[in-house]
Amino acid sequence: MTAEPLVQVEGLRKYFPLRRSLWRRPGGGDYLRAVDGVSFEIPRGSSLGIAGESGCGKTTLARLLVRLLTPSAGRIRFDGVDLHALAGPRLLAFRRRAQMMFQNPYEAINPRFTIGRALLEPLVIHRIGTPGDRMDRVLAALDQVHLSPAEAFVDAFPHQLSGGQLQRVGLARALMVDPVFLVADEPVSMLDVSIRAGVLNLMKEIARTRRLTTVYISHDLALVRYVCDATMIMYLGTVAEIGPTPEVLARAKHPYTQLLLAAAPVPDPGHRAPEIPETELVPTPIGPARGCPFVDRCPHAMAVCRAAAPPLAAVGRGHYAACHLYA
Ligand SMILES: Nc1ncnc2c1ncn2[C@@H]1O[C@H](COP(=O)(O)OP(=O)(O)OP(=O)(O)O)[C@@H](O)[C@H]1O
Ligand SMILES: [Mg+2]
Repeated sequence: MTAEPLVQVEGLRKYFPLRRSLWRRPGGGDYLRAVDGVSFEIPRGSSLGIAGESGCGKTTLARLLVRLLTPSAGRIRFDGVDLHALAGPRLLAFRRRAQMMFQNPYEAINPRFTIGRALLEPLVIHRIGTPGDRMDRVLAALDQVHLSPAEAFVDAFPHQLSGGQLQRVGLARALMVDPVFLVADEPVSMLDVSIRAGVLNLMKEIARTRRLTTVYISHDLALVRYVCDATMIMYLGTVAEIGPTPEVLARAKHPYTQLLLAAAPVPDPGHRAPEIPETELVPTPIGPARGCPFVDRCPHAMAVCRAAAPPLAAVGRGHYAACHLYA
């Protein structure tokens, strides 16, 4: 029997109410459906990559997974327990076990704190260690993310560090509390291309040695291919496709995944990336849900695609696509 997945997500939705005058359109809804009914599991010790274009709900989903947001519907089970039933000490224990890394390292670390203080803070909140040994833990964490000599970084302020160094501090801070689950929201997208690999390799190595269960959010399918066991492609708040990374990227089934892959740069000067077709009607997650969210941009759109939302259908081993071509 296989162990229960660490994270089980079922029918998860997050709707944001719209300010009436601003976005409300005749016939439109009152809500923006940022996450619109997603279900998936994350096996223990594995890494899940989440990709999809800007605004498709990746960050909202990440924040739901670590309970920085409350779902509008659906549920998340973490280690077998409904996340939203947690309160008091059990919620605090969850906050220790699940950590998040943010896209912009300059926003993630308080600019008025020294690096040492930023790293001490989680130890104090979670009452880890003793006042006497906490600084040793901070120095060890800085060493672990290859910021050395660690002593030189303890008294530095965030603005004195490069983006890459600061993202390593963000990783060190997440690791201070010995988490089992790490959600990294675009952890390297703000960094220079030349230093991305170093930070990614470090994250990958630490996740492996600590047997962390991880979620990496990225626009960049090359990153997902490099780091993640499984890949989930989102489109307008829904799961378009999910499965083992080599399977999803080599045998993409959803027309949206196929377009994303075709548009990703390939090292061939003769290759011209096909454009993802734009439509007059820019797809939005506002207004009544109808049919497939991708229908207006899909080269294979059929009548049924306008009538009904496609269910996730099995298209390979552990590989699912939400497309009427396979339903
Ligand atoms: N607090 C909020 N209130 C209202 N709308 C929100 C809020 N947070 C996100 N949204 C909207 O929800 C949708 C999904 O946003 P989200 O930040 O999750 O997308 P994303 O996939 O992370 O995009 P990006 O790749 O640009 O980071 C967007 O349309 C966004 O404008
Ligand atoms: Mg985001």
